[in-house]
Amino acid sequence: MTIATDPAALSASARATRAIHAGQEPDPTTGAVVTPIYMTSTFKQDGVGGLRHGYDYSRSVNPTRTSFDEQLASVEGAKYALSFSSGLAAIDVLLRSTIKPGDNILLGNDVYGGTYRLLSKVFVPWGVGLDVVDITDLAAVAAALETKPYAYLWVETPSNPLLNITDIAAVSALAHDHGAKVVVDNTFASPVLQHPLEEGADAVVYSTTKYIGGHSDVVGGAVVLNDEEVRDQVAFLQNAAGAVPSPFDSWLDIRGLKTLDLRVKQHSRNALKVAQWLESQPAELVERVWYPGLESHPGHEIAARQMHGGFGGMISVQIAAGFEAAKRFAGATQVFTLAESLGGVESLIEHPGAMTHASVAGTTLEVPANLIRLSVGLEDADDLIADLERAFKAI
Ligand SMILES: Cc1ncc(COP(=O)(O)O)c(C=O)c1O
Repeated sequence: MTIATDPAALSASARATRAIHAGQEPDPTTGAVVTPIYMTSTFKQDGVGGLRHGYDYSRSVNPTRTSFDEQLASVEGAKYALSFSSGLAAIDVLLRSTIKPGDNILLGNDVYGGTYRLLSKVFVPWGVGLDVVDITDLAAVAAALETKPYAYLWVETPSNPLLNITDIAAVSALAHDHGAKVVVDNTFASPVLQHPLEEGADAVVYSTTKYIGGHSDVVGGAVVLNDEEVRDQVAFLQNAAGAVPSPFDSWLDIRGLKTLDLRVKQHSRNALKVAQWLESQPAELVERVWYPGLESHPGHEIAARQMHGGFGGMISVQIAAGFEAAKRFAGATQVFTLAESLGGVESLIEHPGAMTHASVAGTTLEVPANLIRLSVGLEDADDLIADLERAFKAI
């Protein structure tokens, strides 16, 4: 199947078809319909330098990985996708291959704790400047961009864990006016719901560990982009430093991406139902629900325009009775499993302040102590609501 180079032509149905066929040519030797797991570190050469289809060594290139990269690029309507051994490896290699000490990054004020840890504890000591801005406030973004040259504006939308919504087209226009590139971490929305490159972003990153893998059985990441020069820089550092997924990881990502469209739409339907139920709870139980599909969400209108086919499976909720009650709540569910991560078929519950976002404690990114994050899975929504109802009784 031809790989897309024209994002404008890409409809939702075309994405669903591409997810199943792009990069998935039947194996030329056996006709195997499913891409084989090429579990090999090296490839026979037909005479020195006589590579078969460019394959020499699996750190550099592997057919199962190529298959996933082509599939993801096609679904995204992008020219290139490069997959990595984790989402953070993808972020690290994209940044390290394109910036140098002395450059600056402008970061949204609600992001995955591990992203903030990588930037503040690794890139800042390396000499990169890092500033944080309320990225939902266009005036604040414009003012920050005036203060100094930025190499990148880093956007997570919906953000982790507060589900803040950033207008990608608006901040991309602002950033480009000031010579900054825009990266969108599209992990929460997935390529089903949101298409940052079409909105003007320069690159997209994913933790494929989440919705793309979709079954909580693989750790992986990806960079998706159209710029050939940046693609070559990223590919060079990936090969030079080696943060590659195994062929089995790539195979799990391929399998996950094939059903992403169906899953994400059902995650979104379930999450909307759970969020509406949470919002209907009395004030002595629920202080606030954060879900972009709710009309009460400050970013709802932007999300309704920018996200297509749903608002995703992630909800955050502030438990009115406070920190200790929130922790008891997270430990009291039976269908929701208390665990980090998100985007799998099974529902997960966690306390960001003590778990995924412990590394932002004491910073401007600190999350509310009574915040609970839900990754709403594919169980029956009424069972999920009954589980939360039981957990409220247990606190
Ligand atoms: C939004 C977001 N980006 C990036 C990452 C990092 O991905 P990984 O855990 O695959 O390194 C995560 C992990 O939770 C995440 O939630």
